[in-house]
Amino acid sequence: MKVSFASPALPRSGALVLTVAKGGTLDGLAAEADNAASGALSRAIAASRFDGGAKATLEIMAPAGLDAERVLLVGVGETLDLRLAEDVGGTVYSALAGSGSESAVLVWPQAGSGAAAGLGAALAAYRFDKYRTRMEDKDKPALAELVIGTPDAGSARRSFEEDGARIVDAVGFARDFVTEPGNVLYPETYAEGLRELAALGVSVEVLDRAALEELKMATLLGVAQGSAREARVVVMRWQGAEGPPMALVGKGVTFDTGGISIKPSGGMEEMKWDMGGSAAVAGAMKAIAGRKAAANVVGIVGLVENMPSATAQRPGDVVTSYSGQTVEVINTDAEGRLVLADLLAYVIERYEPRAVVDLATLTGAMVMALAHEYAGMFSNDDALAKALLAAGEAVDEKLWRFPLHDAYDKMLESHIADMKNIGPREAGAISAAQFLKRFVGETPWAHLDIAGTAWTDKARPTVPKGATGYGVRLLDRLVRDVCES
Ligand code: BES
Ligand code: MN
Ligand code: ZN
Repeated sequence: MKVSFASPALPRSGALVLTVAKGGTLDGLAAEADNAASGALSRAIAASRFDGGAKATLEIMAPAGLDAERVLLVGVGETLDLRLAEDVGGTVYSALAGSGSESAVLVWPQAGSGAAAGLGAALAAYRFDKYRTRMEDKDKPALAELVIGTPDAGSARRSFEEDGARIVDAVGFARDFVTEPGNVLYPETYAEGLRELAALGVSVEVLDRAALEELKMATLLGVAQGSAREARVVVMRWQGAEGPPMALVGKGVTFDTGGISIKPSGGMEEMKWDMGGSAAVAGAMKAIAGRKAAANVVGIVGLVENMPSATAQRPGDVVTSYSGQTVEVINTDAEGRLVLADLLAYVIERYEPRAVVDLATLTGAMVMALAHEYAGMFSNDDALAKALLAAGEAVDEKLWRFPLHDAYDKMLESHIADMKNIGPREAGAISAAQFLKRFVGETPWAHLDIAGTAWTDKARPTVPKGATGYGVRLLDRLVRDVCES
């Protein structure tokens, strides 16, 4: 769907969308439209429960006196901030996508937030249809163009083109990777897909199995050793400024069967999205490079497939991580932390970053704690944690901070090695974070457990069902707030 900007005016065809504040009174162009329709819009409001509450909608078909084939009223509530503007835009898209209208004009009287409405609509318009060969036209969304009619159309257009459209692109880039099934997206093909970032000026380095063996990334390679697909680590660098980089680290398990500690088969197909952390990093790199950010950022992702086989890692195996610390692998399904351990130690040693943020679909325990609303955050640095919390609120990718404490670290003691890869069932998300902490030393670090937020079975205004792209906007905002100011 194309999003464009113009001065507010009633359309000659297609759909007319009018915003209505809480209380349900029509003013400005909405009142003019109501007059032209001999009061049909206000009568429709009076006849319904629609009262302008945020994101409520009311559709009026083919009102006499107006050229529009339909009028959609959309509530904007009491205070219309940028976040709500995005949600309203997304709500408008969803209400019209399958309506039959091919174009719509959204009359947006508030200066300053038209671009946000466009961004919300464009994020809601994401689709992944490449494997549907039998979809008929009538099942496809017809809406091809949304015109935002707003008094500051020029600056809204600029803001959308320079910023919003890049966000949409970057979030879509991440969502596509997350949606791809495991037979199509595996470490090699994923690494090839990430090379696309080179076109934006990102330097993309792919470490293959030989390189990883040479580096002695043994906890990462141990996860991959049961798979017919070789592991890859991809390092993506955007150097838009001098000084130590911000490091972004992502878990990229392209499919997680659990390995020899195999998962139950019900719902196992969901483990194709166990690479959501890496996709967030890739999407963030795309957004950051796309707007030529004045920031130095390094992204690193560990791509592996966790399979059971004759060559797979056994429960009880002891492996020596890149950092030199040894790990007793009690449960091969706690593989994400094994991948991240090597990535964290490596990125810190090689790039001496100012801070490190890792994202991972790490534990089912996090889903139990927070469901799908917030992602869990763990950090050894209050300033970094605060910046992440603020970024999350701003872009509606919310975070809730959990504790780290030596008492949780003790849960990882092993009889035979420096640590086990799992603790007891209780506090499973925290002991996983404590495990990672052993590989970061003094560097400011935050771990985001996105197990509950990388995928959704319930659409939200700017996030259709499926891959959410959670983390892309969060990281982009973090870099903007922390590195570019
Ligand atoms: N990828 C899973 C975590 C996960 C579970 C993400 C459900 C999304 C939804 C991770 O690799 C895993 O299997 N974790 C185990 C750890 C356990 C063995 C200590 C878990 O959470 O059950
Ligand atoms: Mn697992
Ligand atoms: Zn996993």
